[in-house]
Amino acid sequence: EKAGFKHFMLKEIFEQPQAITNTVSGRVNPETGEVSLAEINLSAQECRNIDRIFLVACGTSWHAALVAKYWIERHAKIPVEVDIASEFRYRHLLIDERVLTITISQSGETADTLAGMRIARKMGSKAITICNVVGSTMTREADGTVYTHAGPEIGVASTKAFTSQLAALFLFTIFLGRHRGTIDLAKQQELAQALIGIPAIIEHHLPKIQEQVGALIEGYYDCRDFLFVGRGLSYPIALEGALKLKEISYIHAEGYASGELKHGPIALIDKEMPIVAMVPQDKVYHKTISNIEEIKARQGRLILIGSEGDSHLLTITDDVVWLPKIHEDMNPILYTIPAQLLAYEIATRRGCDVDQPRNLAKSVTVE
Ligand code: F6R
Repeated sequence: EKAGFKHFMLKEIFEQPQAITNTVSGRVNPETGEVSLAEINLSAQECRNIDRIFLVACGTSWHAALVAKYWIERHAKIPVEVDIASEFRYRHLLIDERVLTITISQSGETADTLAGMRIARKMGSKAITICNVVGSTMTREADGTVYTHAGPEIGVASTKAFTSQLAALFLFTIFLGRHRGTIDLAKQQELAQALIGIPAIIEHHLPKIQEQVGALIEGYYDCRDFLFVGRGLSYPIALEGALKLKEISYIHAEGYASGELKHGPIALIDKEMPIVAMVPQDKVYHKTISNIEEIKARQGRLILIGSEGDSHLLTITDDVVWLPKIHEDMNPILYTIPAQLLAYEIATRRGCDVDQPRNLAKSVTVE
């Protein structure tokens, strides 16, 4: 049932093009880019009336929320607050009927996320859930649902469910932007095309990415600590890379926004410390590069994940994972792939049971 793969996790990493395709297909008109989300139960009028969005989730799903904040604020121009569900449910919430609450949960059963949804609804907010499990508690209680169609995920560490959440959240961004009039037809087409195109790009590059990552890890698999850094849309992916590595290899890892390094974590950097940096050629590229030059000056060992043809990266380190240059908004989906594979390759090299990491459960239904 692992279809020739050594682990479910690797199989599920390779299933991502299909999972994203299944999440997107039938929901976007390829000519106009128009998005329809059958079960969302949110009218155009309601889209226009919202004045704030809360995104509520745990763990990897919370990282998807962090990416969505950038997308929604950029394209649908609504302020978005992102909350870890266990914090959301106990803080003093300022919620009324103009707030839209979106819970993101692969399982639809996570106790804190479910509690957060119930609280928000009680305060008058409409609640939508982004979920992978049909008929789960969250989909039954929410006012509307956007299903991800990732298929069952067996590996405890979330992979294809995460990138499918990103795809669903990008669909939602286009949907919202169009109904609010914050994106025009040309922009809608551009964004939809970018999303429709991403599965084929991942499919084409996956074997090469695995090869590049595999070639790197011999020098790194026995390190004790890792830092992951990124800026803008890559910041949540740095967090996700660090979480994946912690979960399955038991190596201590932290993710930071690149610009935060100098506010403390830079003290950790010496020639023993590996730093994985995401450096797509996006709006914040030059800022990220200057943060990386500071790491290099302190002799940190850098692994860069960047764009093909960016020869400047080779003046910084030989350890570069090359990815194609694509639509900027799709970088979080693409850059997740090497982060997942880095964790997978290191964990298997260390002999860890990647499908059943210690102390973790697939679904966290208690507080
Ligand atoms: C990490 C992972 C967890 C889940 C979290 C939320 O790989 O899988 O961090 O993302 O427990 O689970 P769901 O999405 O089911 O609410």
